[in-house]
Amino acid sequence: MNMLIDITIFQNLVYIVSSVLFILGIKMLGKESTAVRGNILSSVAMLSAVSVTLIDVDIGITIIISAIILGALIGSVIALKVKMTAIPEMVALFNGFGGMASFLIAWSQFTDTQPALLQNLLIMITIYIGGITFSGSIVAYGKLSEKINLEKGSLVTNILVTFFYLSIPALLIMMFAPALSIDSNFIFFGFLVLTVLAGLGFVMPIGGGDMPVVISLLNSLSGIAAAFAGLLLLNNVLIVAGSLVGASGLILTIIMAKAMNRTIGNILFVGYASASSSKSEGEQGEVKPITAEDAYLILENASSVLVVPGYGMAVAQAQHVVRELGELLEENGTEVKYGIHPVAGRMPGHMNVLLAEANVSYDLLVEPDDVNPTMDTFDVAVVIGANDVVNPSATEEPGSPIYGMPIIEVHNAKTVFVLKRSMSSGFAGVQNPLFFKENTRMLFGDAKESIGTVVSEFKD
Ligand code: TAP
Repeated sequence: MNMLIDITIFQNLVYIVSSVLFILGIKMLGKESTAVRGNILSSVAMLSAVSVTLIDVDIGITIIISAIILGALIGSVIALKVKMTAIPEMVALFNGFGGMASFLIAWSQFTDTQPALLQNLLIMITIYIGGITFSGSIVAYGKLSEKINLEKGSLVTNILVTFFYLSIPALLIMMFAPALSIDSNFIFFGFLVLTVLAGLGFVMPIGGGDMPVVISLLNSLSGIAAAFAGLLLLNNVLIVAGSLVGASGLILTIIMAKAMNRTIGNILFVGYASASSSKSEGEQGEVKPITAEDAYLILENASSVLVVPGYGMAVAQAQHVVRELGELLEENGTEVKYGIHPVAGRMPGHMNVLLAEANVSYDLLVEPDDVNPTMDTFDVAVVIGANDVVNPSATEEPGSPIYGMPIIEVHNAKTVFVLKRSMSSGFAGVQNPLFFKENTRMLFGDAKESIGTVVSEFKD
């Protein structure tokens, strides 16, 4: 008995230390210089918390160690193989696995004998949030990797959405089944299936520019599910870690929704406008291509340049050559700023991370609200693989799928260079009238190569 008390005290002490390390680790993730150490700190905290939990569980040590090695191997292979541009998809999958773990924990706590009301409440809520996070994240992964492109309003989407709405009363019934004297054993398996289908219906109608908000919401939900699982198992560290993820994910969700000028309710339950209502579909006039050599001549004479990077800069891995161009422009007496949109790229802070990696000074970065009022003072805006975040339809065309989203208004600069490979649309799948504007020149080709050519012109 004494031995048991000692183990519990020891476990709780390790849990407290782990929780402190989690908080420090998350704080360190906020700066590029400390992010790697923060990540290692949090991983060590997680390993300690898991190891100390396993001291007194009734499973053979071989099984435990095999599971840890197998998990570590799979995780390492995925992390080593994943391309930088596929990290958001990987994050979506990780959210899903987190949800699935809580779902399975809660399922394992459901027994044939009728549980007490509170125990039952926790089981059903954990299953519901965990299940929705799991299948919703699979859909988010599919959408981000462009493997799923079911339209909002299609028959399959509508059926899945119906499952989502049916799941809400089903959850209420399951939560209070013991009090209502309902034999929940009978309908439990149906509830498990309904929960997973509901997750598909929760995320399927959401798309376009709203995906960043949904990913951070799913991240938050995975934490909330873990916190409920912690309450169910009376495991302190799971409650703390889950609450940290849940709260930080929720804060990020609110920030992202604000950046998109939408409410969370609007994103989840109204969704993006129908693409067919956008008049920006189809041809909109002639585009004016420009060569890198001609772009150089204009840049050489510019006194102020705004660089606006987007997802294409990440694909081309052009951040280093972009920094080189910025330095050459500054040496030439040009004032250079970098316009950073909060949802440019495919994950929060994507552009900041890439530019920091290339040693672009943080002081040169400006946000849309800061730069838009003075946009007409810039001689050239150089758009590097950005599309949706500079699409004027967002401010000019009610009915456009991205209408209402704040953008970087590069079309108000004196001249705009758009660097991309083709006329194809961005993530939201809408045509961009910027390409057809009088002051826009299209510099077609891979962004790294195009900027590389401009840089070598400067050096010649
Ligand atoms: P996008 O609108 O996705 O446009 C990227 C553009 O880059 C494409 O039009 C593509 O055109 C071009 N591109 C791709 N590879 C290139 C290369 N090697 N060289 C030159 N250009 C290349 O990007 P954005 O403006 O950054 O907007 C982000 C979008 O993603 C928003 O809709 C946002 O809501 C969504 N989203 C963001 C996040 C977060 S959190 N940031 C998460 C999920 C979704 P070509 O194919 O013609 O080259």
